[in-house]
Amino acid sequence: GTVVLAYSGGLDTSCILVWLKEQGYDVVAYLANIGQNEDFEEARKKALKLGAKKVYIEDVRQEFVEEYIWMAVQANAIYEDRYLLGTSLARPCIAKKQVEIAKKEGAQYVSHGATGKGNDQIRFELTCYSLYPEVKIISPWRMPEFYNRFRGRSDLMEYAKKHGIPVPVTPKNPWSMDENIMHISYEGGILENPKNHAPPGLYLKTKNPWDAPNEPEVMEIEFKKGVPVQVTNLKDKTRHRSALDLFSYLNEIAGKHGVGRIDIVENRFIGMKSRGIYETPAGTILYQAHLDIEAFTMDREVRKIKQQLCGRFAEQVYNGLWYSPECEFVRSCISKSQELVEGKVQLSVMKGQVYILGREAPHSLYNQELVSMDVQGDYEPCDATGFINVNAVRLKEYHRLQKSVNPQ
Ligand code: ARG
Ligand code: SIN
Repeated sequence: GTVVLAYSGGLDTSCILVWLKEQGYDVVAYLANIGQNEDFEEARKKALKLGAKKVYIEDVRQEFVEEYIWMAVQANAIYEDRYLLGTSLARPCIAKKQVEIAKKEGAQYVSHGATGKGNDQIRFELTCYSLYPEVKIISPWRMPEFYNRFRGRSDLMEYAKKHGIPVPVTPKNPWSMDENIMHISYEGGILENPKNHAPPGLYLKTKNPWDAPNEPEVMEIEFKKGVPVQVTNLKDKTRHRSALDLFSYLNEIAGKHGVGRIDIVENRFIGMKSRGIYETPAGTILYQAHLDIEAFTMDREVRKIKQQLCGRFAEQVYNGLWYSPECEFVRSCISKSQELVEGKVQLSVMKGQVYILGREAPHSLYNQELVSMDVQGDYEPCDATGFINVNAVRLKEYHRLQKSVNPQ
């Protein structure tokens, strides 16, 4: 049968490609361009040389930004208070295209190189089963006949040499990376000891904040329906409008100023804790800016409910449940909540930080006259007396009870 392999061009998936051929499959290699730094034509040549019967290189960057990242921005999606979900969001986007290719090629099988201990296997496979229920998934790192043969990197290297797979000439970093337009993650290897600090030179998307310029970058981000539609540099007046253009511009600015680094221990869906280092430059600016425009434009009680749903959303995305009914439902609520989240946020970026400077909005719930210390507005101060008295009823009762249970 035919198998569509999610191919990265690296050593693991190159060995998997050859191994699948050895098992008798026709292999279609699929490489997603999701914004990683990669020589795609080199990877195409390599896959063909290794015996792929066809190679697909699909540019999914725009889809990734507009359909996945923008939803995460609207949701202020954050996993365990810190992780902005760069890898988690990419997986359903990559797997969706993989399924499209499998259907087009009449392939019954799909395959990937995710390990048997991680989150990615779950995300890939739950997406594939959702969008192509009859599909058969080949997950080599969970098959004893594969993992008993390849017990470490040296086994892979040896196999590669034997089968004419080009072995990387530069020694591999002693950690694993996953890169896309939103973030890079670093995990494994020397980082597995959570006490080890990130070595200098690890970070590829951001400068060290202490080496960053001493002058801030000042800009304005305009939102419509909770999504950024324009970024203006307030010094040189350059404007960026399309999703890809403005997101790349924010990556550049945040990267230059060292914004978006975190080093955390997180809970994998599978059950273990893992240590990860992430850099999410543009995503970090947009997280701060969106929080601000949302707080400015959204009703207090709607916001509370939305916040609870968004906690669930982050967990669903992390756990690979993008195409679940619960996530579909939550996304529709998030979209509804963003209808009037519109306006402009001015901010500066410097030394690893994002500073909000001001905001304006056409339909803000902010009423300057109502809140002002200098004007009365449509409000009777003496009404607050009753409001406070009624709220105090419960508190007085509670403390009266405390006193009787616990005299003095
Ligand atoms: N721990 C992060 C997550 O689960 C990053 C995973 C990185 N994946 C990778 N194949 N290196 O989303
Ligand atoms: C992997 O196991 O392939 C990477 C880590 C993860 O998926 O959590």
